[in-house]
Amino acid sequence: MATTKTSKTTKTQSKNTTAAPKSVRTTTKKPAVKKTATSEKKKILFVASESTPFIATGGLAEVVGSLSKSLVADGGYDVRVILPLYSDIRKEYREQFTYLGNLYVHLAWRNQYCGVFSCVKDGVTFYFIDNEFYFKRPGCYGYYDDGERFAFFCKSVLEVMPFINFYPDVMHCHDWQAALAAIYLKTNYCFREEYQYIRALFTIHNIEYQGQYSLDLLNDLFDIYGTYQYLVEYKNCINLMKGAIECCEKFSTVSPRYAEEIKNEYYAHGLDPIIRRNEFKLTGILNGIDDVSYNCALDSHLFANFTPDDFSNKAICKKELQKMLGLPQKAEVPVISMVSRLVSHKGLDLVTTVVEELLQDDVQVVILGTGDSHFEGYFRSLASRYPEKLSANIVFNGDLSRKIYSGSDIFLMPSKSEPCGLSQMIACRYGTIPVVRETGGLYDSIKPLVNGYTFTNYNAHDMLYVIREAITDYKNKDEWSKLMYRAATTDFSWSHSAKEYESLYLSLLK
Ligand code: GLC
Repeated sequence: MATTKTSKTTKTQSKNTTAAPKSVRTTTKKPAVKKTATSEKKKILFVASESTPFIATGGLAEVVGSLSKSLVADGGYDVRVILPLYSDIRKEYREQFTYLGNLYVHLAWRNQYCGVFSCVKDGVTFYFIDNEFYFKRPGCYGYYDDGERFAFFCKSVLEVMPFINFYPDVMHCHDWQAALAAIYLKTNYCFREEYQYIRALFTIHNIEYQGQYSLDLLNDLFDIYGTYQYLVEYKNCINLMKGAIECCEKFSTVSPRYAEEIKNEYYAHGLDPIIRRNEFKLTGILNGIDDVSYNCALDSHLFANFTPDDFSNKAICKKELQKMLGLPQKAEVPVISMVSRLVSHKGLDLVTTVVEELLQDDVQVVILGTGDSHFEGYFRSLASRYPEKLSANIVFNGDLSRKIYSGSDIFLMPSKSEPCGLSQMIACRYGTIPVVRETGGLYDSIKPLVNGYTFTNYNAHDMLYVIREAITDYKNKDEWSKLMYRAATTDFSWSHSAKEYESLYLSLLK
C-alpha cells in the first residue's frame, strides 16, 4: 500500500471559509500550515479514463502513460495515476495488481462499492477503481450512463485519497471524464483540511467531447448543489468540461497552436466564449511520444530494424509490407499511408474527394483504421476497384500500424482540427515523411521541408498539390534521404514538454 506522507497541519482552518456560495477557490492561497519536509517530492495525481500500457483507445492513453513516466524519471516528482478498472484490462496486467481494500462512495442517494487496486510500473504508481456495475463492460465509453460512470469514478478519486494516504499537490485531470474530480474538489472537498492545498490542473485533449448532460441531473446524478449550478451550466445543459475550466486553477491543451485555435468559434465546438474568458489560465504544451517504444532501431514489430544513419533496411520493411497487404512489391513506387480514425475531422472528406485522382499517379495508398461506416465502406470498395494500388485495412491493429509507419514513404494527416496528433511524430521517427494540414499540433510539430510537407487551407486540391510535391521530391534520392534523416532525428521525446509541465505545476504551487 502507498505510504507517502501526508502534509501534517499545525493549525486548523475554519471550514466555513466564506459565506458567499460562489466561493470556488481557483486562486492559490498562502498555506496556513507548513509542510513537514520541504525537500519532499512534489506529488502529482493524474486522473484519467485511460493510460498505456493498461488500457488505450487513443492518444490520451499514450500521453498519460508516457508523461507520467517521464516526470518520474526526472526525479523530482511522485506521480500516481488513477484509472477505472475496466474489464478490458488484460489478465496479464491484472495479475500484477495488489488489492488494497475497499470503501463505499456516495453519489447523491447512491452508495456504491469501490475496490482499490494498485501496481507500480516504471516508477509510476497506478491505482484502479473497481466497481463491476460501472466498469465490467466491453470498451471504455459509449454507454447510456457514461455520465454516472465517470461521476462515480471522479467521486472515488477524492474519496480514496485518505484511504491511500495520498493528497497530491497537483491533481491533474485529463478530458471531460476526469472533469468532475476538479469540480468536486472545488465545490466540496477543498473545504476539508486535508484537501485544502490541492491545486487542480485540467488538460483538454480534445474539445469536441465536453460531457454534456441535462440540467435535471445536477443534483440527483452528479451530486452538485444548486448553488454551484452556475459553474457547470452552459447553454441550458450541464457541461462538465466548462465546469472543470471554471474550477481549476489552470488549464492546458496539448499544443500551443490548439490553445490559440480554441479561442475561435471554428475550433471550439461552442466553448470559445468560456475559453476566452479563462484565457489567463490557459497554456498550450506540445505532447511528446515515448521514444523508447517508437524506436526504429529496436522496435520488434518491424520487419527489419534501421537507424536514421542507415535507412537501408527500411526497404525491407516496405517490401514486406507490400507483400503482406497484397500490393505489388515495387521499391520505386511511393507508398502513401494513413493510420487514423476514419472520421470527418481527420480530413477524410479531403481524401475521399481526390484519392481517385491521386491513384492515377504511380503510387500505392495504404489505409489503416476504423470509424464512420460510410468511410469504411468507401475505402473497401475502392480497394476492390484498385487492388494493385490501394490497401484498405479496416481494423485497429497496433502491430500493423508500426509495420505501416516503418514501411511507407509518405504519411498523410490532413486533419480539419488536431489538438496535437501523435501519428505524425511516430511517422517521422520511422523516416516516413508527413504531409499535414497546418492545424493544432500538426502545425507545431511539422515544418515544411524541415521534416515534412504542409498545406494551410482545408481544401482537397491544396492537399493533392502538396502530396504531388512530395512525390516529385521522393524521386530525388539524395534530398529525400536528408529529409528522412531530419524527420527521424526531430526531438519528439518528452524531455522538453515534461519540463514545461513541471513549470506549470510549480506555478500552481507558488
Ligand atoms: C486526442 C487528440 C489528439 C491528441 C491526443 C493526445 O486524441 O485528438 O490530437 O494527440 O488526444 O493528447
